[in-house]
Amino acid sequence: ARLVVFVSGSGTNLQALLDACRDPAYGARVVAVGADRDGIAALGRAAAAGVPTFVHRVKDYPDRPSWDRAIRDATAAYEPDLLICAGFMKLFGVDFMAAFPERIINTHPALSPAFPGMHSARDALEYGVKVTGCTLFAVAGGIDDGPVIAQRAVPVEDDDDADTLHERIKVAERAMLVEYVGRMARGGWSITDRKVTVR
Ligand code: GRF
Repeated sequence: ARLVVFVSGSGTNLQALLDACRDPAYGARVVAVGADRDGIAALGRAAAAGVPTFVHRVKDYPDRPSWDRAIRDATAAYEPDLLICAGFMKLFGVDFMAAFPERIINTHPALSPAFPGMHSARDALEYGVKVTGCTLFAVAGGIDDGPVIAQRAVPVEDDDDADTLHERIKVAERAMLVEYVGRMARGGWSITDRKVTVR
């Protein structure tokens, strides 16, 4: 399967996928990496793996829909089977979503529907939960609210701060992402009434 991965930061989830794809039995290849900004470590990881990258910054476009169509077209050129948002900090619009129905997944460092948004480890700590985790879901247009594909629970330690907690979550998150992307790539998937079946 042809994967396009979208990033906005350090790219450790991307790196986990790049490493997994080195095994021909994994059944997938990262054909491109897309980003909404330059100067992030994730782009360096793609370059080091010889994977093409494309960057589309919202501020370079007159409005959000034109950004959405530009990144849609750049992505479509790679003919992806599965699109993976791994630390991507933008929401795709209707034009992008329409081009890749049921083929966009996102990983989030919380047990959805708890703690959506960009500060989920901090929010979990502030709430005082004893268990948090990560969620892999099919992107349906909202913020971290699509049909759930997989989840992993991660304990909160008494001496955690947001960074130590997020790092612990990311260990589980990378394993979850690699497992399910491989299964989806090899066996396919279907989504019916918010239920995702991964063969
Ligand atoms: C991941 O935990 C992702 O779920 C969240 O931001 C983090 C990105 O980490 N949105 P990385 O860029 O893959 O290292």
